[in-house]
Amino acid sequence: MDDFSYTNGRLHAEGVPVDKIASKVGTPTFVYSSATLLGHYRRLAEAFAPVDPAICFAVKSCGNPEICRLVAGAGAGFDVVSVGELERVWLSGAPMSGVVFAGVGKRRDEMLAALDGRYSPLAKSGVKVNGLGPEGRGPIGLFNVESEQELEVLEDAAREVGVVASATLRVNPDVDARTHRHTTTGKRENKFGIDLARAPAAFDRFGDSPHLNLRGLHMHLGSPIYSPDPYTEALERILVRIDEIERNGHRVDRLNIGGGIGADYETGSTPSYASYAERIVPMLLPLVGRGVKILMEPGRTLIANAGVLLVRVEYVKETSGGRFVVCDAGMNALIRPALYDAFHFVWPVRVGEGQAPTRRSKKPEGPGLVPSHVVGPVCESADAFIRDWPMPPVERGDLLAVFSAGAYGMSMASTYNDHPLPAEVLVDKDSWRTIRARQSVAAMLLGPEACGPQPAEATA
Ligand code: LLP
Repeated sequence: MDDFSYTNGRLHAEGVPVDKIASKVGTPTFVYSSATLLGHYRRLAEAFAPVDPAICFAVKSCGNPEICRLVAGAGAGFDVVSVGELERVWLSGAPMSGVVFAGVGKRRDEMLAALDGRYSPLAKSGVKVNGLGPEGRGPIGLFNVESEQELEVLEDAAREVGVVASATLRVNPDVDARTHRHTTTGKRENKFGIDLARAPAAFDRFGDSPHLNLRGLHMHLGSPIYSPDPYTEALERILVRIDEIERNGHRVDRLNIGGGIGADYETGSTPSYASYAERIVPMLLPLVGRGVKILMEPGRTLIANAGVLLVRVEYVKETSGGRFVVCDAGMNALIRPALYDAFHFVWPVRVGEGQAPTRRSKKPEGPGLVPSHVVGPVCESADAFIRDWPMPPVERGDLLAVFSAGAYGMSMASTYNDHPLPAEVLVDKDSWRTIRARQSVAAMLLGPEACGPQPAEATA
């Protein structure tokens, strides 16, 4: 599951007691485990090894450049959805050829930057990676195009640059991913992709373009998906269309099955990678045999359980509505409970005898638990991590860990109510380092240039 566990009543990230990190860096702080992230990556790659997929890490789930560097080192490419994410990948030093660019509203200037680094918004900033500016970095690997009109714009952008843009067409297979309505993307009422039935006609129209190389199809059904069924349902429909496209005389050599595989927010809540793979892989093998490259875009399943959010208890107050544990961060740092009613297991970082959780469950059990509403400082009643939550009693000044916060935590964090962005720390075995310093109030209000040199990185 992950590398966060209690030893002698103290929560550790791998070999590091997390209270030690909080005492040096403060709170709120996201703490990531390298071992968990790399372990998930390795297990996913192993499960799908028979189809040797290109695994493109979804940058939107957690875009810290050090996290990107870590997964790139393990062999990952990247899924990006904006020029900002694109530049983030470039800054992390990863090759552009491993990048796929999805997103339903790509602008032409974003396409230009993805086709040629001379158009990068960082081109005139003087920023260099390995001594080189963005010029000459080459085009990205693939665009995931979401409409016929977007194909026209991409064709036109590629003509201007004088290159051929490689693309897959994102199709909407009208399959229910059986997940939260805000994160369902493969139903026909969702804005993503084009109707699957229209894909063959799009290939007929754009298949011979001198500036487009339309190579195949892309799907992304939603997130999180806790069963292989939506994938197999969608693939059944998509494979029929791929045959049709090929019968019409076009070559298909790419199929992107998107992201969406779940994460273990509650111990055991996600099936093993093997149980997804054993249903999905057999459907893909014939394509692979015909030379089709498979791509995947996982985010959450790799990084969610590789991160916890550390917050400090500011106040505990009993009201007629219950016991409120008021923390120094809430929906500003982790918006998922407020936005999706998402479950995140919350527990004190230091616990007494017998109070270390044996598993993370929606119904914790153990001696001396007290029902609590764990809330943040933001002026919204939606600002709660969890309500009516049986937890060991805590006091002002105690530390809490919000588990499984690595995905869509920091990347969705905001400065709402003018709370500066949290710090981020990466643990590797017994050592740790700050991979993003806490934003200062001065930087938040005046911009980083107004703040002079940043404090040196904390490391232990
Ligand atoms: N590919 C595409 C085209 C996507 O839109 C997404 C996620 C992914 C890949 C990665 O999905 P993953 O493997 O991480 O499930 N903020 C929400 C999740 C939104 C997901 C948006 N798209 C949450 O916190 O639950």
